[in-house]
Amino acid sequence: MYTNLIKISSFTILLSINTFCLAENNPNLQHNALACMSCHSSPAMPQIKGMPKNILTDKMQSYSKDLKKDTIMHQLLKGYSDKDIEELATYFSEVK
Ligand code: HEC
Repeated sequence: MYTNLIKISSFTILLSINTFCLAENNPNLQHNALACMSCHSSPAMPQIKGMPKNILTDKMQSYSKDLKKDTIMHQLLKGYSDKDIEELATYFSEVK
């Protein structure tokens, strides 16, 4: 139990450092990307890091515009602007 907590915490800290380097001058993108990683850093979640930008954008736009409904994403992405989605797609396509 504690070992798992330590592993998850270490992983989150590493991802946070990575985010702050790649999105250094964009606090809005930092906040958005960290929120995504609170779920997507888990191995149980679909992996979005390194996905091609056009695929990420299409998937996010489909959720945002309610063209695709799943359990979570179509509700979550309604709150994001086209600019947010563009920035996040660029970020996640580049992050390792
Ligand atoms: C509360 C947990 C949670 C958060 C926060 C979250 N996601 Fe998701 N995401 C999911 C789940 C669960 C799925 C699988 C589809 C579903 O059930 O909605 C998913 C699916 C996706 C997919 C489709 C993956 C595929 O292979 O089809 C993309 C792209 C995505 N999320 C991007 C994001 C981005 C970008 C953010 C931040 C704005 C984000 N997610 C935040 C839980 C989350």
